[in-house]
Amino acid sequence: MTTDETRSALDWEQRFVEDSTPWERPGLHPAFVDWQASGAFDGLDSVIVPGCGRAPEVAAFADAGIATIAADLSTTAINWQRKRLEECDLTATLFEGDVLAWRPDAPLDGVYEQTFLCAIPPRLRTEYEATVYAWLKPGGQLFALFMQKAERGGPPYGCSLDAMRALFPADRWTWPKTSPASYPHPSLNGKPELAVILERR
Ligand SMILES: C[S@@+](CC[C@H](N)C(=O)[O-])C[C@H]1O[C@@H](n2cnc3c(N)ncnc32)[C@H](O)[C@@H]1O
Repeated sequence: MTTDETRSALDWEQRFVEDSTPWERPGLHPAFVDWQASGAFDGLDSVIVPGCGRAPEVAAFADAGIATIAADLSTTAINWQRKRLEECDLTATLFEGDVLAWRPDAPLDGVYEQTFLCAIPPRLRTEYEATVYAWLKPGGQLFALFMQKAERGGPPYGCSLDAMRALFPADRWTWPKTSPASYPHPSLNGKPELAVILERR
């Protein structure tokens, strides 16, 4: 699919073709590992990974028996996910296109947000919040990794907690009472990502 420049800040397909993907981690995100170990995913029957790229968390969710939807603009990324799932003898629903235009047949239990919100132009953020809200059933959870970045510009665009509290307001989302765990990114100059589970009201 051709990248629509009004919807995307980068030619993501080209970045995958050139293997210029500094956002990728060497394995599962440690927050994913910690959430899974703590049982945070135990109640999930369905989850979407928007802007999944080549993230191994897609196969990990499928391997956990959760109906998984993986969505991305990039043909190369979606083909990578298809191959990886086949190699692991796993299945997931793959959607190639603008994930903000995608809607499920039935509301979902979970959204796993990993370097997607920080990748889209900030003008699309309110649309993203409304979309995630529409995807989830009441009580559904957004597993978010909010990229912390002081400098202006992007991608990645900083997702400060103040900005996230304004974007995901308390009358629509229940915020945890505890401070979020911080996970430095191994290749993006150690920029931390804050792990927050938001519950849709
Ligand atoms: C920074 S990468 C993160 C990829 C993956 N989540 C990871 O952690 O490795 C952002 C991803 O979002 C995808 N993307 C950007 N805008 C999109 C959109 N509107 N719909 C679907 N995917 C999009 C890009 O193709 C890219 O794979």
